[in-house]
Amino acid sequence: FSKRTSPFIAFVLGGPGSGKGTQCMMIADTFGFTHLSAGDLLRKEMVSDGENGVMIRNSIKEGKIVPSEITIRLIQKAIESSENYKFLIDGFPRSDENRIAFERIVGVEPDLVLFFECPEEEMMKRVLSRNQGRIDDNIETVKKRLQVFHTLNLPVVNYYSRKGKVHKINAVGTLDEIFEKVRPLFAAFSKDGPRN
Ligand code: AP5
Repeated sequence: FSKRTSPFIAFVLGGPGSGKGTQCMMIADTFGFTHLSAGDLLRKEMVSDGENGVMIRNSIKEGKIVPSEITIRLIQKAIESSENYKFLIDGFPRSDENRIAFERIVGVEPDLVLFFECPEEEMMKRVLSRNQGRIDDNIETVKKRLQVFHTLNLPVVNYYSRKGKVHKINAVGTLDEIFEKVRPLFAAFSKDGPRN
């Protein structure tokens, strides 16, 4: 992070289909954040000629998480090549191992952690009704993603809860209803300027 001393970082967590990607786009649009989706960065890398493409593809297809170093390198590169200083990191960290590696490699703590809470049946319904041809949006992989969410992602949420950084958002409702719960957390930021 040579260009700035302290970027503002929000980690955005939640199960598959909890709506974190959709809400991140709304936050980015309204408050001028740069939205970095770990899943999108990995999917982009997957189809590039990069040396890790096949391994990433296999991990995503099976609903497993990709090794930390790869994901962190992609996030770090995206932050360092941005002129912005405020970032939403969506779908990361996904495990304690991810979190610890991020602290070790990047050396930055999140300023806040958003956690979208959503019942499992609702998440399943949303993901399976999405029509974008994602290789992991089938019932078998969604079940695995939900399992990974329970066993690996939730300990990360618990860790940051103990540090008082987690803001839980009930993710059931219309997009606007949910955004109204998110909005106050970012009230200090304006779209173009650094802070209001
Ligand atoms: P990723 O791309 O992050 O997928 P995910 O976490 O499974 O989440 P989704 O993108 O499916 O859902 P979302 O919560 O963003 O919801 P969305 O807004 O899209 O990760 C995919 C894979 O990449 C992982 O399984 C793993 O293999 C790998 N990976 C990712 N991060 C990694 C990491 N850190 N380390 C290692 N590996 C990693 O909404 C879903 C649908 O619901 C949409 O169709 C949307 O329109 C709809 N919707 C949203 N909100 C609402 C609402 N309020 N009401 C009704 N419908 C809604």
